[in-house]
Amino acid sequence: MRADAQAQPNIALIKYWGKRDIEQNLPAAGSLSVTLDSLWTKMSVEFSDALPVDQLVLNAAANDEMLPRISACLDRVAGTDRLRASVESESNFPIAAGLASSASAFAALVVATSKAAGQESDTLSLARIAGSVSGSAARSLYGGFVELQASDANIDVETIAEAGVWPLTVVIAVTEEGAKPVSSGEAMIRSAANSPFYSSWLEQQPADLVSARNAVLRKDFAQLAAVSEHNCLKMHSVMWASRPPVVYWNSATLSCMEAVRHLQDEGHAVFFTIDAGPQLKAICLSDETDLVRSALDGCAGVVRTMVSGLGAGATLLDSK
Ligand code: DP6
Repeated sequence: MRADAQAQPNIALIKYWGKRDIEQNLPAAGSLSVTLDSLWTKMSVEFSDALPVDQLVLNAAANDEMLPRISACLDRVAGTDRLRASVESESNFPIAAGLASSASAFAALVVATSKAAGQESDTLSLARIAGSVSGSAARSLYGGFVELQASDANIDVETIAEAGVWPLTVVIAVTEEGAKPVSSGEAMIRSAANSPFYSSWLEQQPADLVSARNAVLRKDFAQLAAVSEHNCLKMHSVMWASRPPVVYWNSATLSCMEAVRHLQDEGHAVFFTIDAGPQLKAICLSDETDLVRSALDGCAGVVRTMVSGLGAGATLLDSK
């Protein structure tokens, strides 16, 4: 009746931005990400016939705000006729600030829920359920370099290269720790509704995916850097041009971009990506980590930096 699981956030290099089907939360296009190893979310799920309603404790505090989404996810895995559950979640990084906390949370939640419900589910089925709650969560079921393909009916997700095959480092520059003003889901719907760039964004997504996949398979850092930065800046252009506009960046985000550009001009193997928040993620070859971290630490407005290698997909933990 109780199970524990852990998942790591993932950082998209080719972004998921737009929904084909809002009800089923199906992405409008594919995406490609890296799963991290040193940031994590742990989830414990315990079903009990003594509970009248679901309960959620998030980082040691009761939380009712996230509860409806958690309950919906429990229903999708265990069915609506399930027992009520007590869910506890702990993360070692700030939530709701563009650090993909929902990805690791829902990936860990589906794994723990399925086990607590006594099921033997395969990874793709769980990824599909996690993705129906939060699109990016589907990718955190898998480790290393992960590609998500979207079709009319469903998603397919797979690891295209294991973490150890190309051990890149991600340096995260946190420029603001609060929750973001507009959720990514809401911002995507706005982009699709009225951004003049949305249709070209979707048209170009398959070509960007092919380019990134080939770069990963060939370990071609320059090509991965070029297509990832291009894809990130296109996604932000789509949302900047929507009405009302969505701008997640702050001045520190721009200072970090400039620092990365400066390192690139000096010949260092590093590139940036930015998600639905003001944090900048710099991806580099592992021997560049210290240099990249100190450059980002030196940018005005950076609150702190975090470093992570690439890691595994969601896993069950021994229950306490
Ligand atoms: C910018 O997965 O949070 O991080 O499906 O509405 O929950 P919902 O969206 P979410 O969006 C992630 C957007 C992104 C890009 C990405 O991770 O691919």
